[in-house]
Amino acid sequence: MSNEQNFEDYKKAGKIAAEVREFAKKIVKVDGSLLEATELIEQQIIKLGGRPAFPIDMSLNNIAAHYSATINDKTVFKENNLVKVDIGVHINGAVADTAVSIDLGNNRELIKAAELALLEALKLVKPGIKILEIGAVIQQTIQDFGFSPIRNLSGHGLELYKVHTKPNIPNINNGDKNILQENQIIAIEPFATNGAGLIINGKPSEIYELKIKKPIRNQSARKLLSFIEQEYRTLPFNKRWLLNKFNNLDVSLGLSLLEREGILYQYSILPEKNDGIVSQAEHTVIVKDDSIITTNL
Ligand code: CO
Repeated sequence: MSNEQNFEDYKKAGKIAAEVREFAKKIVKVDGSLLEATELIEQQIIKLGGRPAFPIDMSLNNIAAHYSATINDKTVFKENNLVKVDIGVHINGAVADTAVSIDLGNNRELIKAAELALLEALKLVKPGIKILEIGAVIQQTIQDFGFSPIRNLSGHGLELYKVHTKPNIPNINNGDKNILQENQIIAIEPFATNGAGLIINGKPSEIYELKIKKPIRNQSARKLLSFIEQEYRTLPFNKRWLLNKFNNLDVSLGLSLLEREGILYQYSILPEKNDGIVSQAEHTVIVKDDSIITTNL
């Protein structure tokens, strides 16, 4: 199906995501609770007429991505934290994906590296550009600051109710000679670090995504699955959200059963290999001769 008919929804989602990103910058403060900030941001998305396309991620310092508050999360923002807020908004499945790095310390250069890399990459986005060229400019910009891009994290395509589809948008020159096509919707997300430039798989994140539909015998798992299908379809969600609807025992047993059956995939938290500090910037773009950055303010 063509994305064309939904461009309006993609643009609406982008506008909400941009406003929410500004809201996040105001509420993330030293001594503030990560769980409270997360819930406020998710509520703000709904207030503005959108739905979260995935749980708000707030990854601190050496964690590059996929940390989202758990139901009893006690994390408090501290002096010197670098907080990456990754925001997803959807309207009828049309997703906007954007991220910002909030500096509670002295990481201004590291954040500038990711932000400038994103700006330089966005300048190149149009039909016919080679994917490797986008990766190359991200890599060069970050290296010019004396930092490393994270090589094994990349931007991605977006489709209805899907956050990670083709094409893969690398943060380095990966030799991919494929070109961007008109009307593709992509998220570009440079990550910069003073570490090794690699992420590894960390602890389970409690963020899940529906992978395969198949029958399941266990009754509470079945109930959970039908709620997930209806409420989130193929978009990521987390245990915290389910705990607002179902009791802890049903959720915990249901999720582990569904994961074991391969029906759900659970994301891992992604720390930097050498525990380097990581910054991130991200926008969503509709590829055109005059590309549209949906998540611009
Ligand atoms: Co993204």
